[in-house]
Amino acid sequence: MKKYYIAPSILSANFNNLSKDILSCQEAGAEYLHFDVMDGHFVNNISFGIPVLESISHSHNMINDVHIMIENPKKYAKRFLDAGADILTFHYEACNSEEEVKEVISIIKENNKKAGLSIKPNTPVEVVIPFLKDLDLVLVMSVEPGFGGQSFIESSLDKIRFLREVIDQKGYSCLIEVDGGINNLTAQLVKDAGVDILVCGSYIFKGDIKKNMESIE
Ligand code: DX5
Ligand code: ZN
Repeated sequence: MKKYYIAPSILSANFNNLSKDILSCQEAGAEYLHFDVMDGHFVNNISFGIPVLESISHSHNMINDVHIMIENPKKYAKRFLDAGADILTFHYEACNSEEEVKEVISIIKENNKKAGLSIKPNTPVEVVIPFLKDLDLVLVMSVEPGFGGQSFIESSLDKIRFLREVIDQKGYSCLIEVDGGINNLTAQLVKDAGVDILVCGSYIFKGDIKKNMESIE
């Protein structure tokens, strides 16, 4: 029986009582905690950054799954790793060349952390192929990055199916993560398509965290 992992996105948590929400996710069995970092340039929203990650990354025992939706990931990668990122996922579209993508992956691996690469809905999934053998995770955005609470983009399923086929065929160890619009209905669609990790924000944090998590496990 395939194991799926849930990664609650704290972007939708109650920031007035963040540690309570985080521990509720941990008690509900979440293995990953998803941090959505937004710089107001790469995406037209600003969320939180290094001080927040530093202050909470060691306050729980889940894997710190940091998703940086920022320009110039090469400049900031090390600082997010030092702040507690266990997985650091940056955007293909934030890099100016394939060379730069490889450089960011190297920075993450040289620091003995896990490297993730994310693609936006309009980016063809084929662009990640050259990096798959070195990546620990590919993050398929199933909403336009920048906000929680958006609707799931169905075309993401084809990208997940494509990645599942390539990764299995090549025998890579790269995990597939999906992010955006995941709820009790879309969760089954992405599982059937071959995903490993489901990021979920608004659906989990609106109401009973444990019950909401159980409904997508
Ligand atoms: C969007 C973020 C997502 C978002 C998910 O830019 O990367 O992680 O918080 O939120 P929901 O699950 O509400 O779509
Ligand atoms: Zn995210």
